[in-house]
Formats: sequence, C-alpha cells, structure tokens
Amino acid sequence: MQTRPLGTTGPQVSALGLGCMGMSALYGEADRAESIATIHAALEAGVTLLDTGDFYAMGHNEMLIGEALRAAPAALREQALTSVKFGALRDPDGGWSGYDGRPAAVRNFAAYSLQRLGVDHIDVYRIARLDPNVPIEETVGAIAELVEKGHVRHIGLSEVGADTIRRAAATAPISDLQIEYSLISRGIEDEVLPTTRELGIGITAYGVLSRGLISGHFTADRQLAPTDFRSMSPRFQGENLQHNLSLVEALRKIAEQKGVSVAQIAIAWVLSRGEDIVPLVGARTRERLTEALGALDVTLDDADLAAIEQAVPADAAAGDRYPAAQMSHLGTDR
Ligand SMILES: NC(=O)c1ccc[n+]([C@@H]2O[C@H](COP(=O)([O-])OP(=O)(O)OC[C@H]3O[C@@H](n4cnc5c(N)ncnc54)[C@H](OP(=O)(O)O)[C@@H]3O)[C@@H](O)[C@H]2O)c1
Repeated sequence: MQTRPLGTTGPQVSALGLGCMGMSALYGEADRAESIATIHAALEAGVTLLDTGDFYAMGHNEMLIGEALRAAPAALREQALTSVKFGALRDPDGGWSGYDGRPAAVRNFAAYSLQRLGVDHIDVYRIARLDPNVPIEETVGAIAELVEKGHVRHIGLSEVGADTIRRAAATAPISDLQIEYSLISRGIEDEVLPTTRELGIGITAYGVLSRGLISGHFTADRQLAPTDFRSMSPRFQGENLQHNLSLVEALRKIAEQKGVSVAQIAIAWVLSRGEDIVPLVGARTRERLTEALGALDVTLDDADLAAIEQAVPADAAAGDRYPAAQMSHLGTDR
C-alpha cells in the first residue's frame, strides 16, 4: 500500500482512507455484515485510516467500527488509525441542532467515543464544523489537553477557512484539514490549499466521488429515501442532476480509453493533486472498495489531465455542494 504523511506533524497513513459514514447514515440502507467485511477487507489491503463521526447515526458508526476492530486479527487492529469528528448535536428523531465546541463538551464527546470505538486513544480528533459561539482556540486547546493526557494523538480540522486554519495552527500542531475536494468541488484550490501547504497541514479529502454523483454508477432514476443526504443536495436535483451526469459521461469516455472506471479516474485525479492529499473513499461494500483501491494503480499523464480538465472544467458542476442552511456552517463559500 502506498502511504502519505498527514501534514508535517501527523502520522504516515495509507494513500487512501476509508470513510465509514455511509455504513450507518445519510446514503440509505447499509448492510451491517457487509460493512464490517468491507472494513476488514480495507485493513487487509493495507488501508490504515478509518474516518468516522460520533454523530453518524448517533454513535452507530463508531460502534460498528469498534465491532469490526474487535473482530479483526490483532495485527490489523493495531494498524488501524481512527479519525473522529465530534461536535454536531443530534436529537432522538435524527434532527440536527447545531455544534458544541466548548472544552467541557470536547472532553465529554471524547470520553464516549473512546468507549464506543473500544480504543485507548483516538488518532486524529476534530470538530466537524466550527462552533460559532466558541473561539477555535478554545476547542483546539481542549483537544491539545487530550493529546497531553494520551487520549488523542493528533488534532485535525474540518470544513474551515484559511483564517480559522491559521488561528488553530497558532494554538497547537494541526495534522490535517478534512474538507470536500473532487473534480466538481474545487473550492479549496484558491485559498485553503495554499494555506495548508504553507503551514504543513495535510488534507483528508472527502466526497471525492461527490457522494456517488461522479462515481459512474449513479443514475437519474435512482430512488432516494427522504433521509438520504442526496435527496436534499442541490447537485442531485432536476436539471442540476442532468447537467452533472452529463459531466460524468464526458469523464466516462476518458475512463474507457484508459481501460479504467469513472470512479477510478475521479479518485486518481484527487490523488494526482499532491502528496499532501489523502482521499477518503466512502466504499460501503467490498466490491466498491476494490474498485476504489484500483485508483492507486492509475497514472494520469499530462495529456490525461488535460483531457479531464476539458471534460470537467473547474466550477463545471451545477448546484451548491450542500443545501443553503448547511452551506452557512462551512468556512468556505464554495
Ligand atoms: N468532514 C466532513 O464534513 C465530511 C462530510 C462528509 C463525509 N465525510 C467523511 O468522508 C467520507 C467519504 O465521504 P463520502 O462517503 O461522501 O464519499 P464518496 O466516496 O464521494 O461517496 C461515497 C458514495 O459513492 C458511491 N460509490 C460508487 N462507487 C464507489 C466506489 N468505487 N468507492 C466508493 N464509493 C463509491 C457509494 O454509493 P453506493 O454504496 O450506493 O454504491 C458511496 O455511498 C465519509 O464516509 C465520512 O467519513 C466528512
């Protein structure tokens, strides 16, 4: 397995991480046994980074990862690095009610995550969105105390802008920023990426397949449950969806010429953007995982990159990447 560093202060991790969110929430029904088999297959293939959030189905995702780790052979369990997001507040009906980044809340969230995961430390810990009522210095400072006590190894960030990145990095060493980055979500290129590079902070890129939209497997007639994120996402609606799927068809021609799949081209493109970027793939089955891992063997030369750029120019996507209410929680406006 190829590896990449998570910034100058973080761990060396597999060049692809496994994002486990869809195994519990937001993308419709998932199969528990297949989810666990997928985590095991990823570890067996050399994937070391497992990403989750304590709010993904209210602890369900962490318990699932905990179960998978307990059932894995010791060597695989020990190679696994957990990347955990906290801070999003939920209610019993599955609603979302803001963020909490107060130091006491950080310690509380961490205590529960350690139990649910069944681990004695979390490898990378980060607030999912900035709490507008708590300065980032206080939230990061609270994680730094958890690092001192051995409960957490590294501090990450998620979906924040350049100013917050600088303030966080002035408070404590930051390993990586987790943020959406794909062929059709390039908002980080103008300001965020130059900032993380200047500060030696890595990127864990999520949504590299734009939640399946540019995977080559998504079709316009797919029925989505009301709780599926994509049923509310602007990019998956009506004319936007038609337009975005036409970009995928342009990409498919390039993939076919290279004898690889659309998903592999999309993941390989993110991998090609720099050694400081680690794509998190949201595979929920062993079949999808195998396809995603195949991207590590895809080499894109200058001609390929030019053809991809022509097929999917920056800002080619129709629709924002989140519904309006959720866009306001992001540190970037694209
Ligand atoms: N920090 C944040 O704000 C944030 C936000 C969202 C996610 N994340 C993290 O990032 C991870 C990845 O995000 P994501 O799940 O949206 O990413 P993604 O990889 O863009 O999308 C995953 C979806 O793509 C579809 N897909 C089709 N072919 C695939 C293939 N070969 N490999 C993988 N997926 C394929 C899958 O749908 P089917 O299973 O239906 O085929 C899957 O549900 C999440 O699991 C989570 O840990 C972080």
